[in-house]
Amino acid sequence: MPTGNPLLVEIQERIRAVGAISFCEFMDLALYAPQGGYYNRPQMQIGRRGDFITSGSLTRDFAELLTEAFVQMWHALDCPQRFTLLEMGAGEGEFADVVLGYSQATYPDFFAALKYQIQEQSPSLRERQQQRLARWGDRLSWQGAETPAESIIGCIFSNELIDAFPVHRLQWQGGNWQEIYVTLDKQGAFQEVLRPLREDRIHEYFATIGIDPQQQGYADGYRTEVNLRLIPWLKDLSQRLEQGFVLTIDYGYPAHQYYHPARCEGTLQCYYRHRRHNNPYSFVGEQDITAHVDVTALTRYGEKFGLETLYITRQSLFLMALGLGDRLLAQQQSNGHLLHALNRHQSLHQLIDPLGLGGFYVVLQGKQATLKLPPLQEADQVFRATQRGTSPRLLND
Ligand SMILES: C[S@@+](CC[C@H](N)C(=O)[O-])C[C@H]1O[C@@H](n2cnc3c(N)ncnc32)[C@H](O)[C@@H]1O
Repeated sequence: MPTGNPLLVEIQERIRAVGAISFCEFMDLALYAPQGGYYNRPQMQIGRRGDFITSGSLTRDFAELLTEAFVQMWHALDCPQRFTLLEMGAGEGEFADVVLGYSQATYPDFFAALKYQIQEQSPSLRERQQQRLARWGDRLSWQGAETPAESIIGCIFSNELIDAFPVHRLQWQGGNWQEIYVTLDKQGAFQEVLRPLREDRIHEYFATIGIDPQQQGYADGYRTEVNLRLIPWLKDLSQRLEQGFVLTIDYGYPAHQYYHPARCEGTLQCYYRHRRHNNPYSFVGEQDITAHVDVTALTRYGEKFGLETLYITRQSLFLMALGLGDRLLAQQQSNGHLLHALNRHQSLHQLIDPLGLGGFYVVLQGKQATLKLPPLQEADQVFRATQRGTSPRLLND
């Protein structure tokens, strides 16, 4: 194991102190440790020069099209004088910049009502966001532990946030779940060990999503993940939302696919310089670690906390409903610079690629609010394509 990485030393010391830590704690440290956690490293970048791309880092069209949805939400709420848009996990801050700029230029009435807030757990990303977005002055603010949470009329938005929450990893063994813990072998390298399940919340989780693990016929060695952080996160959102919407975009599966016996390796993936692999113990602090989102958990727990599920669809269909097709047509007829035109054309296609970003789930939840979007049918083709577990975040997929 390489030395000289303070994060590795910190994790090793923590393990030596307690014998073994849960995988969830390991992932939390690898991604979010204040010293050297992946999202806190100054070198960490989202986009072509980083480890993975996201829709917002690919093209400004994504944020502009989403602005069309936010404007419709504002109308659906009868155009309140203040519409708060709270973005959670804002990455490089590009999305916020485009939403504010496009609203100002295209929807001045909406812009007059718009108050943008960001909740970002990484101090180093927050600093970068603050630099990029300085021109928006007090139109934009950051929510932190020190800021009392305000109640919101508007929308709480996230893209690829929940997949970055640390997860519990489970293994089916002898007719029961065991939890995967991380310890050190004699050479000091990370080693997985199984421990009896301590978290009662995991049983409650499966009951909530309507999966009885005893009935699934899992073979010994079957592995999966449970994202318990989703629960307090949703509870907090629903308490803060006085009226309006929660719009979540991420890659995932409904529970019956997520916990299907055939998905025997789970969904954990690591991203390092546009390469995907499944070893979370390499490049510690230098790679992203993610797990797919259980869309059923998002909607069921949302309903428990007072959020009505308004709409579940795929990014491709959602963006088409918001006008992506018109943009593609207009772009084909424009006389712009050839290279620029080709790049934009490719990016627009990537946003709706059913095997890539277009297969992401879009979940719209509401509190005392409904939104009428044109009826969308989920294409069977799109549905099956996303079951294959492709990785849409890579440039070279
Ligand atoms: C995969 S990145 C996505 C960034 C951005 N939304 C995008 O699409 O480019 C995940 C982001 O969520 C942030 N994050 C993770 N957990 C968070 C939490 N509990 N609250 C707020 N932000 C969080 C990370 O620091 C990072 O900015």
